[in-house]
Amino acid sequence: MEIKILGISGSPRKGNSEFLLTKGLDYVANLNDFDVKIEKYLFRGKEFKPCMGCGYCGKNGGKCIHNDDFAGLKSKWMQADVIIYSVPVYHMSMPGQVKCFIDRLGNSLFGTYKNLFDSGEDTLPRLMKVIGSITQGIHLFSGQEHTLTDLINHALLMQSIPVVGDMWESYIGAAGWTNNKINRNAMEKDFKKGNFDTRVAVEASEKLVKRAVEMAAIIKSGLKKHKKQLIKDSHYIPVLNKIKDD
Ligand SMILES: Cc1cc2nc3c(=O)[nH]c(=O)nc-3n(C[C@H](O)[C@H](O)[C@H](O)COP(=O)(O)O)c2cc1C
Repeated sequence: MEIKILGISGSPRKGNSEFLLTKGLDYVANLNDFDVKIEKYLFRGKEFKPCMGCGYCGKNGGKCIHNDDFAGLKSKWMQADVIIYSVPVYHMSMPGQVKCFIDRLGNSLFGTYKNLFDSGEDTLPRLMKVIGSITQGIHLFSGQEHTLTDLINHALLMQSIPVVGDMWESYIGAAGWTNNKINRNAMEKDFKKGNFDTRVAVEASEKLVKRAVEMAAIIKSGLKKHKKQLIKDSHYIPVLNKIKDD
């Protein structure tokens, strides 16, 4: 059973978010215990306009009125079993461009699944994706937990399952800081020097991706096993159709 992982670096630069993401993805690629297909997506160089609340997506099968990089990432997001976000802390939360993506994703999905439910009400199917979050900022106690909580809330809203790494390195996700350095390669350099905090952030990122893959495998097998009961409920149809193709 193949597990499709989409690793998303939410930074507009090639920097510390990408470093932690790559560490986590490389770790599971080298474990060889699950059949993983890994794709990395970079916000760097991409354009994500903000949601205008215009309602176009609700009437047009989830298609957004903006013409930018949203549709491309939405399509990859929909296909993945595991989503790993690695984002820098911006103003105690995620960068605006990532928030723009998740605002639009959430709203557009109501349009995407409009015809799935007889009630005609705005509801979402059980997407059952496993979502893990990594973050880092320049300082300590400067927004990492808030950022992780925002991404956990996003996972729940997307009818998906947030995962963490192992204790004690990972409480609600993976987090780190760049020891008061603004450079894009601060973590990579500190890691090479054996810096303790950076090592903890790397280990947390590695275990987070590993646990996410395991959880996705457990969920996919469970969905297959209980298909007969679940298929009666429209909420499960998209995810059951998706695993049928895997
Ligand atoms: C607009 C902006 C806001 C930021 N806000 C915070 C913050 O609230 N807390 C923090 O620890 N770091 C903050 N930072 C610093 C970045 O999180 C930090 O430099 C991080 O390493 C950048 O990640 P990257 O190298 O992946 O781009 C901010 C940086 C920018 C550009």
